[in-house]
Amino acid sequence: MRRIIIDTDCGSDDAVALIMALKSKNAHIEAITTVCGNVPLELAAKNALMTIEITNAQKPQLYIGASKPLMRELVTAVNVHGEDGMGDLDLIHPSLASEKEHAVDAILRIVECYPDEIEIVTIGPVTNIALAIMKDPATMKKVKHIYSMGTAGFGRGNTTPVAEFNVYVDAEAYDIMLRSNIPLTIIGFDVCLGDAALNKNDMEMLMASGKKEAIFAIQCNRSLLEYNLKRSGEHIVDLPDAVAMGVVLWPELMLDSAECFCKACIIDPSTYGQVIVDDGRVLAVSDGFVNHVPNTIVCKSIDNETFKSKMFRFLLQ
Ligand code: RIB
Ligand code: CA
Repeated sequence: MRRIIIDTDCGSDDAVALIMALKSKNAHIEAITTVCGNVPLELAAKNALMTIEITNAQKPQLYIGASKPLMRELVTAVNVHGEDGMGDLDLIHPSLASEKEHAVDAILRIVECYPDEIEIVTIGPVTNIALAIMKDPATMKKVKHIYSMGTAGFGRGNTTPVAEFNVYVDAEAYDIMLRSNIPLTIIGFDVCLGDAALNKNDMEMLMASGKKEAIFAIQCNRSLLEYNLKRSGEHIVDLPDAVAMGVVLWPELMLDSAECFCKACIIDPSTYGQVIVDDGRVLAVSDGFVNHVPNTIVCKSIDNETFKSKMFRFLLQ
């Protein structure tokens, strides 16, 4: 049985990822930890608690973490996910409560309890992970693997032309995680688009199912759909965190990947939050990246069709 900690800034795509993980019979969710990002911290916790509550599956404990990035003011994505992060449909009234222990302490305690067994899935900014690494680097070296939804991968950013949101909120934290030498797999924004996104038929099928988790998953992504319709006229809901969770739960979904040296940009405002992904292909001139040892496995493509059918099976259970 895999032992997983999920660190989330629980917006609406996070909620779908959480439902998938909670439904898994092969993974014990040791904890859900929350971080500021899509929404301020207290909303991230409420949204995650509500998602645990509505999901007919395991009920992990929830710990509250960082309320602001390491060095900057918080930038949220309420313009994408809604003021409450979950579609602004008044869906969020959790009766479950969070634990008193801070998320960073909970992560360190659980890793210490299960050395070399804990897999951490980050589906938001990685402030909590960076704080844990700084607080107790020796314990964090006992983390089996980190799977991170983050970076633009081999594509364009979604927050600036070069920066993806989870890194842009706290690039210093991402830099600390990249330098930590903890085994790391990155699922970038680039592999979460196209046929990996829900289309109109998918959404109508899930709504018509009458299944509460499926209906919740569509309703809470209402603002994301509206954002996409306004921005590009496309009737789609891209679910980066659900894609990342799919790769974690079903590793065979990752069709292609590359061992890369990844470097977070934290200095220049115009590139802040960019993660340079160097797959080591020979470059024409010496580029200053020579001799860098790969520190990350970066996903290059996934099996979209199988991802969707597996995700639907969990949502419709
Ligand atoms: O860029 C997409 C990521 O940023 C997702 O995790 C989404 O929930 C937001 O946190
Ligand atoms: Ca997220």
